[in-house]
Amino acid sequence: MNARLQSANAAPAWQPDAWRARPAKQLPTYPDAAALAEVQQELRALPPLVTSWEILSLKQQLADAQEGRRFLLQGGDCAENFGDCTSDIISNRLKVLLQMSLVLVHGMRLPVVRVGRFAGQYAKPRSADTETRDGVTLPCYRGDVVNAPAFTPEARTPDPRRMIKAHARSAMTMNFVRSLIDGGFADLHHPEYWGLEWVGESPLAEEYQRMVSGLGDAVRFMETLAGAQVHNLNRVDFYTSHEALLLPYEEAQTRQVPRQSGWFNLSTHFPWIGVRTAALDGAHVEYMRGIRNPVGVKVGPTSTPDELLRLIDVLNPDDEPGRLSLIHRMGATQVAERLPALLEAVRRDGRRVLWICDPMHGNTESTSNGYKTRRFDNIRSEIEQAFELHAAAGTRLGGVHLELTGEDVTECMGGARSLTEVDLERAYKSQVDPRLNYEQALETAMLIVRKHAQGTRA
Ligand code: PEP
Ligand code: CO
Repeated sequence: MNARLQSANAAPAWQPDAWRARPAKQLPTYPDAAALAEVQQELRALPPLVTSWEILSLKQQLADAQEGRRFLLQGGDCAENFGDCTSDIISNRLKVLLQMSLVLVHGMRLPVVRVGRFAGQYAKPRSADTETRDGVTLPCYRGDVVNAPAFTPEARTPDPRRMIKAHARSAMTMNFVRSLIDGGFADLHHPEYWGLEWVGESPLAEEYQRMVSGLGDAVRFMETLAGAQVHNLNRVDFYTSHEALLLPYEEAQTRQVPRQSGWFNLSTHFPWIGVRTAALDGAHVEYMRGIRNPVGVKVGPTSTPDELLRLIDVLNPDDEPGRLSLIHRMGATQVAERLPALLEAVRRDGRRVLWICDPMHGNTESTSNGYKTRRFDNIRSEIEQAFELHAAAGTRLGGVHLELTGEDVTECMGGARSLTEVDLERAYKSQVDPRLNYEQALETAMLIVRKHAQGTRA
């Protein structure tokens, strides 16, 4: 092809608003387009929440996880809401994630990549656009960045100003997490500080305490050997992620930065696309294609090998290490049937991806007393099967993606305290999906360690 023809055929360079030319699912209809444009303009001018060099260092850590040199722990709320941007909720969630990562590091003998589902997890996909109660139909609640949950026309009308508030809440969350970590909250010299009050009473307490004191001994031993404090144990890296669902919000925070090529989404380190918006020709994939962040895609039971390979072509055409994570969420009853063909196709084609197991979203059910819940046994089973299926396929499970909280909620059934349907009434707080409470979260980390150890012994 001659040069002139080639340049005439060349696709125009990608822009952050390229998604607008594609069919977009799950986006709200804003009644006032001018107000939306104004908010986007304001967001473009505000300082970013993360930096490109943090994004690139996470990408490197994810590349390491692909090679089996790290394990990824990604967790947090199904949805944050504006009211939960409080000191206790943020620090307890950080504590439980730190405790889980300690269990994983100690048990797997691998560094852990820590990624929170927070500081931006404010938009939710829904199964229907509207909700009808007593003959009244209103737009559905799509998360605090879009509208409010109360069933009134005022609350449910999408309001673009909420994006400014979401950005501010994300910045406050991020600021507090960064200060806690920089101030020594995550200091390995003092893992006892990470303890939540419950640890003393939990059936898991003894195992956890043994680990913590073993770790303290190991740190002291190393320092005796070195004859000095080991300073890089004073802090850990912590990254953020959220579902990149509300594209006008993501677009407005997508920027170019000095001395780097391309575009970065500077609202989070690690955005992902949910199953409902992962269509190959859809707006969300078009948006994610153009940014340089590492990106995740949820993979559900209806995904086919062929579709998945085409999605990889679009999202990671150059097979860049660390760029693409596939987060499978099949459900305990379907994972053995659905996952192997996908693993096999990706392995056979030699594609570089990080495989992550989300044992939450394929295991949601409703109880007879009307709660959306998940059984701990199903969560456990999906994780255990995932390890086995990867081992059998010659691929590697490189991380987990969990919905959890540091609060004492009762939203998932089972676990060390054997929570039942009746217990759900006691402390069910989620407006969306049921989360593991701190105890169930820690138990999950322990079961991952046990399962991983079986694999490495085999
Ligand atoms: C979620 O992660 O909260 C979610 C909605 O997941 P999925 O897209 O896998 O259903
Ligand atoms: Co969820």
